[in-house]
Amino acid sequence: MSIIDNLVSHHGVLRQLFNKSMNDPQVFQEFMRHLVVHHTLEEKYFYDILQTVPEAEHEALEAVNEHHIIELIIKDAEGFPNEHEHFPVKIEGLGEYTTHHLDEEEADIFPMSQSVIPPEDLETLGKLFTEAKDNALNVKVPEVPGAIANRAAKYDKAPKAKVASTATSTAMGLGIGGLKT
Ligand SMILES: [Fe+2]
Ligand SMILES: [Fe+2]
Repeated sequence: MSIIDNLVSHHGVLRQLFNKSMNDPQVFQEFMRHLVVHHTLEEKYFYDILQTVPEAEHEALEAVNEHHIIELIIKDAEGFPNEHEHFPVKIEGLGEYTTHHLDEEEADIFPMSQSVIPPEDLETLGKLFTEAKDNALNVKVPEVPGAIANRAAKYDKAPKAKVASTATSTAMGLGIGGLKT
């Protein structure tokens, strides 16, 4: 399968996840996870190659720049409380920008790339993209044991002044971070 088909197929997953994100913060997290993996691998296995073709370089750089803008919108949305009444507007903004980007790739960039990258290379890149995507999305991250979370919650109640004074005396002893009066 050509990488173009693989990318379009993953766009379908992104669109579906986004449509379900509006009312479900967990699906929104999953959408962002897929989106970050998509951008990373699309750049490695598609845009890095497209950039080497002089007549396609500008469009490739423009698309990668759009990835950076989308990542800035993601960072902004991540720092915003999910329960805030304006949170859906944040999701909407990210969705609109992302959808525009996916549409442009499918309508212009992907068809153009087929005339500048040989079909056998698109096939090989497709295999690499799919393998890397499946590996990246299936990474299992172990959960933090509940006992550690509980201990941390209790530890947080320890007097803060003592911790601060220890840190200050350590810093002074080392002669760093001194506050000059
Ligand atoms: Fe993209
Ligand atoms: Fe894409």
